[in-house]
Amino acid sequence: MPFKKNILCIGAGYVGGPTMAMIAYKCPQYKVTLVDINPSRIAQWNSDVLPIYEPGLDEIVKKTRDRNLFFSTEIEKGIKEADIIFVSVNTPTKTFGAGAGMAADLQYWEKTARQIQRHAESNCIIVEKSTLPVKTALAMERILTSNANDICFDVLSNPEFLAEGTAIKNLENPDRVLIGSRETPSGLRARNELVEIYANWVSKKRIITSNIWSSELSKLVANAFLAQRISSINSISALCEKTEANITEVSRAVAMDSRIGDKFLNASVGFGGSCFKKDILNLVYLCRYYGLEEVANYWEGVVKINDYQKERFVLNMLTAMFNTLAGKKICLFGFAFKADTGDTRESPAIFISRRLIEERAELVISDPKALDNAREDLEGLNGNISYIEDPYEASYGCDAIAVMTEWEIYRQLDYRKIFKSMTKLAFIFDGRNILDHNELFEIGFNVFPIGKPPQTHF
Ligand code: NAD
Ligand code: UGA
Repeated sequence: MPFKKNILCIGAGYVGGPTMAMIAYKCPQYKVTLVDINPSRIAQWNSDVLPIYEPGLDEIVKKTRDRNLFFSTEIEKGIKEADIIFVSVNTPTKTFGAGAGMAADLQYWEKTARQIQRHAESNCIIVEKSTLPVKTALAMERILTSNANDICFDVLSNPEFLAEGTAIKNLENPDRVLIGSRETPSGLRARNELVEIYANWVSKKRIITSNIWSSELSKLVANAFLAQRISSINSISALCEKTEANITEVSRAVAMDSRIGDKFLNASVGFGGSCFKKDILNLVYLCRYYGLEEVANYWEGVVKINDYQKERFVLNMLTAMFNTLAGKKICLFGFAFKADTGDTRESPAIFISRRLIEERAELVISDPKALDNAREDLEGLNGNISYIEDPYEASYGCDAIAVMTEWEIYRQLDYRKIFKSMTKLAFIFDGRNILDHNELFEIGFNVFPIGKPPQTHF
């Protein structure tokens, strides 16, 4: 049976892969093709070991691959055949020139736009899936119409709100799907076409539409609000440590106000991930560009508190361990930026490892899924670092454990056994507040949570 439509996605990463797998799974009537410039990534998508770890993803890919889901490096061919093109390439923070360290680097995005313009052979809907600065759709439209031909392109904004580790759940049952379009007859037609794709499994009440600039901006704002909650609670964790208040109790009391709610109020060693920092900096850059200095400063504070929290964690370790870490062996429990993913982009563990190495500590890094990425992240760092997946083996003979990632396995370890094998005084710094601190103290550990009084035997 011929397919009803050809959907192409350019960029087969953490967003493109799971998102297209879900569309293919829910819409067998569409042919979905993912293309990428990175041939080894495509080879992995076509193999038994997918390039990313995401609970539930393997099953969906197995059900759809070579049925109506295809992975390929043939970008031009894909563009020629496509009715709808999602663009899901990376948009990292610019590292050079104007806006370095703040603005989004749009080079991958622009290359894609030009490629579509050169190779498209029929009318096409272009969907911005990547997170982009407001008004990017205008640039996209200008590039696409730069060579007068008869092809009509409609650009839509359809930002992705999935979180890693829960991507499949989020995609299957999203809080909302947002689609922004031009409010012209052809823009509205394109928008309806995309609504109909999602309506195959998402209730129409949850599919919301808006003008295209609101949609682009909403994505940056959603991430800024989420990150702002974490920085808010983390800033208060510092005050708790000075006043003997307990951050878990404060957070619970605050969260029971239904206007505030209980999500994203877990104090931590700091937020990581490829997007929060980059998207807030992007927002800050936009505000400055439009002369809104006070607004820019307000949001920049969210990132500054996050940097402060990571540095504070290292300084707390240093102070607790008698102001020297030189030659001490420290085991990091977890390296991923959050549980249930192997992704380490912007993981607080990277910053903390670098700082601990600066203090001349020896590091043992443990993580169930992220050790390969950890090795790459710390490559070239001049220090004594080993990588051991098994947490018992990793912590053997160490002076301290620092919990970096809230993996469930770390809650369930036999800490008596671990304590026996460690160098005494045996410290635990719980950067996620996931362990039973009273029990650890009773076992003999000196325990340093976030935002709670430490428990020490000296
Ligand atoms: P990623 O780096 O995992 O994937 C991007 C892919 O695009 C890479 O495989 C890269 O090789 C490919 N690519 C780059 N230029 C290309 C080109 N010209 N042609 C073909 N392929 C090209 O990034 P990601 O995490 O999937 O993020 C993609 C976008 O989605 C970003 O804008 C990000 O902000 C946004 N986003 C990410 C998440 C997330 O959880 N990771 C969630 C929501 C939104
Ligand atoms: C985040 C958003 O949650 C997604 O909606 C968004 O689509 C995505 O960014 C994106 O644009 O990339 P993600 O970064 O995958 O998703 O993961 P989160 O669950 O948001 O966690 C981000 C960081 O905050 C992690 O390091 C996590 O450990 C930390 N965090 C989270 C806390 O420290 N405390 C909390 O209470 C919650």
